[in-house]
Amino acid sequence: MGIKFFEDRKYFKLDARDTSYIIAIVDDEKFLGHVYFGKRIPDEPLDIESLLRINEYPYVPSKNNRERMSFHDSFPTEYSTHGLGDFRESCLVVKDSNGNSVCGITYCSHKIYKGKPTLKGLPATFGDENSCTTLEIICSDKVLNLEVTLIYTVFENLDVITRSVRIKNNSDNDVTLEKALSACVDFDGIDYDIISLNGSWARERRIQRVPVSFGKRSVESIRGISSHQSNPFIALVDKNANEDYGNVYGFNFVYSGNFIAVVEGCQFETTRVVMGIHPANFEWTLAPGEEFIAPEVVMVYSDSGIGKMTRTFHDLYRNHLIRGKYRDRKRPVLINSWEATYFDFDTEKLLSIAREAAKLGIEMLVMDDGWFGNRNDDNSSLGDWYVNEKKIKGGLKYLVDEVNKLGLEFGIWFEPEMISPDSDLYRAHPNWCIHVPNRTPVLCRNQYVLDLTNDEVVEYVYSRLRDILSSANITYVKWDMNRQLSDVGSSFMPKEKQGEIMHRYVLAVYKLLDRLTTEFPHILIEGCAGGGGRFDPGILYYCPQIWCSDNTDAIERLAIQHGTAMVYPLSTIGAHVSDCPNHIVGRTTPFETRGYVALAGTFGYELDVTRISEDDRKLIPEQIEMYHKYNDLIRTGDYYRIANYEDNHLYDCWSVVAKDKSEVLVTYIQVLQRPNSRSRRIKLKGLDENALYRDTETNRLYSGSALMYAGLNITGLHGDFKGKLIHLVKEK
Ligand code: GLA
Repeated sequence: MGIKFFEDRKYFKLDARDTSYIIAIVDDEKFLGHVYFGKRIPDEPLDIESLLRINEYPYVPSKNNRERMSFHDSFPTEYSTHGLGDFRESCLVVKDSNGNSVCGITYCSHKIYKGKPTLKGLPATFGDENSCTTLEIICSDKVLNLEVTLIYTVFENLDVITRSVRIKNNSDNDVTLEKALSACVDFDGIDYDIISLNGSWARERRIQRVPVSFGKRSVESIRGISSHQSNPFIALVDKNANEDYGNVYGFNFVYSGNFIAVVEGCQFETTRVVMGIHPANFEWTLAPGEEFIAPEVVMVYSDSGIGKMTRTFHDLYRNHLIRGKYRDRKRPVLINSWEATYFDFDTEKLLSIAREAAKLGIEMLVMDDGWFGNRNDDNSSLGDWYVNEKKIKGGLKYLVDEVNKLGLEFGIWFEPEMISPDSDLYRAHPNWCIHVPNRTPVLCRNQYVLDLTNDEVVEYVYSRLRDILSSANITYVKWDMNRQLSDVGSSFMPKEKQGEIMHRYVLAVYKLLDRLTTEFPHILIEGCAGGGGRFDPGILYYCPQIWCSDNTDAIERLAIQHGTAMVYPLSTIGAHVSDCPNHIVGRTTPFETRGYVALAGTFGYELDVTRISEDDRKLIPEQIEMYHKYNDLIRTGDYYRIANYEDNHLYDCWSVVAKDKSEVLVTYIQVLQRPNSRSRRIKLKGLDENALYRDTETNRLYSGSALMYAGLNITGLHGDFKGKLIHLVKEK
């Protein structure tokens, strides 16, 4: 059993594989205190009072009520509430029917059970009775008559604890949640660094590491999507933690909209971490009897560095988040029309690409933006999801059938959440977009966002998707979302509920994705948002892969994919070989190198295969063979970061080791050639020390320990942007 309650001492102990997490009930009033989160420790003996420091000044209210406020302001609380004297970052702010925002919760009861509950309407990790145990601690604010249930699930074979919160109004009056975060952890000390993933369009998820200091630092999005700028992930790490050493605590929010993570260095040298839905533009009214569920936070602990945290997230998401037919399967090698033709295509052009692609071994054609309404550039027609038969001559079914006859599957692009002002849909329903009365909404890419809080709008969108997807043999959808939310207002929601729009919007996207995956389980959906603007675990619950960035340059992708893979498995990272000079950065890199980098993702092509050079074209069948040879390993193996060119400015290296350590694929990219240099030695990781490994190209034998501790010399590369794969297989 991964969760125990020690009745006499009043504490809960949650044990994952190498992790313990301890919560105690304190004093006559039953405050809930956070005792410990970290490397697994024995059940007993444990000096809970000392660890919580309640045996020292200011003690607990029953012993020193005159300093009750100091108690609230220093006690490591399990879930912080606003208004009673804990002046650190709070998780829960509730406005009552008098207009006051004061709340304090104490323990009432608890339940421990096998398995993991689902969260109604929300994506979440899942696990069965053999892998998970759940604790629900029911707390209440007795003045407000508010029930607050803290939900924890332990994945006993991984170092994972998930959290969410259910808040129920048991009073006779409405109350309004002004902030309802999902997790709070108080750490002892402030000697930590914070790792986050920050960026922008075309340069998503660069790794940033900064120290914790007194005061607050936040990682957040108020853009309506999890965003290009900040990912809903932070890690708190020991100051001296590196890839392979030190305590690391990762937090990832299973949500695709506004979020906040705050790390606060507090007065008594403790660090508070909170995470949840951003309180900006958020208000949620609970009528008597109603409840609200705060989305899930995944907490991963690693006792041996950042790399182990990464591998735990990868294992969790591959086995306990991603679903559907493609979860454990190779994805078809696709060719996407976007960088090949942009809007300039018709049936014949697409078929000419498909014919050539089929000869080379490509397995799917994806028709990107431009096939519907009057869409010949990005100024119109979003919402008019009717095939443009001037371009798709003969109709969609004809095109798909012809592509299928060539032996290729067919995929299609949608941007379901959007509406162009220049569209039949907007002309018919100008109030269907998110907007505020008397204010012209701000344009972005010349488009508005549909008001998905309105069921009629959702029904329209779904029926258009369903009609198109049922009209031909379509087996892949790229679900795009190309702008952020502004002018947040709805003409369908009453005044008191306007603060709910941002969250209701995200819930509606989930509902749409849920319907789509239920009705079309055979369709592979790739998430997308102007490249990687919504790359989060919420989307991964519905889409096994997400387009990682509009930047397809192999060198830029090293950093983007390196940051993305900090949390998300390689199998989820949409990556294509595109043409050069690269359309975003103008850089020319060898075709081989583009292939090696795309291999560390879903792998596909995004170029006009009828127009590239003969030399490049000839490499495609070889690359596809390489994909088929290595994809099982890349999709399922353990990922190790070996070198990062953002740090060393010269080269990049990573490896994927099979779970049973029977083989390893090392990718080495020489970003810049260094003059007057010798071969570079790299030290591999995660191998079987006592085994022998054979290089499948040279046939040379190495011992696992020599590869890890003495290293392997990389030779034979000359020039910038050159790459190399090294495949080593364990001798039987
Ligand atoms: C976004 C996507 C691209 C492409 C275009 C089409 O930018 O990220 O891959 O689909 O939209 O408009």
